[in-house]
Amino acid sequence: MNKFIIRGRILSFNRAPTSLNDGESYYYDEDGALIINNGLIEDIGNFTELKKKITKDDLTIDHRPNLILPGFIDPHLHFSQIQVIASYASNLIEWLEKYTFLEEQRFKDIDYAKKIAKSFFDQLINNGTTTAASFCTIHPESVESFFEESSRRNMLMIGGKIMMDRNAPVGLLDTAQKGYDESKSLINKWHGRGRQLYAISPRFAITSSNEQLEITKTLLKEHPECYLQTHLSENMEEIKLVKKLFPNCKDYTDIYDKYNLLGSKSLFGHCIHLSEREIELISQSRSIAIFCPTSNLFLGSGLYKLQNLTNKNSLRTALATDIGGGTSFSMLKTMDEAYKVLQLQNQRFTPLNSFYQSTLGNAKALSLEKKIGSLEVGTDADLIILSSKATSAMKTRMERVVNLSEELFVLQTMGDDRSVLQVYIKGVPSKKI
Ligand code: GUN
Ligand code: ZN
Repeated sequence: MNKFIIRGRILSFNRAPTSLNDGESYYYDEDGALIINNGLIEDIGNFTELKKKITKDDLTIDHRPNLILPGFIDPHLHFSQIQVIASYASNLIEWLEKYTFLEEQRFKDIDYAKKIAKSFFDQLINNGTTTAASFCTIHPESVESFFEESSRRNMLMIGGKIMMDRNAPVGLLDTAQKGYDESKSLINKWHGRGRQLYAISPRFAITSSNEQLEITKTLLKEHPECYLQTHLSENMEEIKLVKKLFPNCKDYTDIYDKYNLLGSKSLFGHCIHLSEREIELISQSRSIAIFCPTSNLFLGSGLYKLQNLTNKNSLRTALATDIGGGTSFSMLKTMDEAYKVLQLQNQRFTPLNSFYQSTLGNAKALSLEKKIGSLEVGTDADLIILSSKATSAMKTRMERVVNLSEELFVLQTMGDDRSVLQVYIKGVPSKKI
């Protein structure tokens, strides 16, 4: 199936929408089509026009009346935490100590890591997520299992070994030097191999000593082609502890800044309680703040102040699940909770905004928009087929829907993995149905 055409209701964004029905921000065709050739999008347009460009032998897959979108992108989650989802705790620190640090120790067993990697990627595909940026554990085995499974499925994935050398159980600690050596050898093996990309991953300031942050600075300087991912300003108790551990730093962001960890490929999970000074610093450095609504609500961490971050400071932002602090693999559910978090602060997040963010917006946050996130000619054919009538409740609700924005709102509010009918990875149908 090297060359084929798929037909359906095509939707792809070209920029961030600026109003509820901003028709200029996207391409939509009720009877649209894509020509896929060798895993790439070769053409996009109206089916009647595109049909003229293919031969009788080329296969046509008809997905009407369903939507065809670029695959969802999840820029912050933990593949090692799929068995931590829904663990009862009063806040982040208790949740980490009581469940997460115990579970992550299991990943030194390569067979366990391989088993979880399989299940993790099944879940991603089931929910229409075709690219993600994931933390692994401190064990190189966990990174190997992650990238091996991702390569096997030919998915574009970002991953990295967590580095942590204090304030955690012994079974989860490396040393500054060991963290550097193992990360370096994993970078050399995996970064740029097929579709795999590496993220240098100090967990957060609490679990990294000054010595480890210093060597992370060296590692990032030696590998500017890699991402940097960590956590920042998620929970008030965490912030208090950070202040105690780094008494000479102005604030939480100052720690990462001192070690030159800010930059256009630096991904900071959460960013809920930032001061104006920190926001300015993140914005100036073109770093990315990542909104993880299901996690922030579940752990009671706080409400992401999207408007404050983007309006005044035009900071680069992204939207993610943060499994297993997050409660759902579904980017539809994540959009739904993002909307509610912003409603509580009297801020608007339109359905066009949330679908833009989960596709092209997140691709831009990862500097990957030339490869994924839209249906532009020449990009990778990572696609999802969405049904707005996947359940009987949705079918009934859809009878009152009169335009695309309303339909997207129903999808994000009522939809889940049942709405994801098929997922193409580099043009290959990959969802088990
Ligand atoms: N901060 C440090 N580690 C973690 C983690 O695993 N999950 C979340 N939500 N926050 C963190
Ligand atoms: Zn996280």
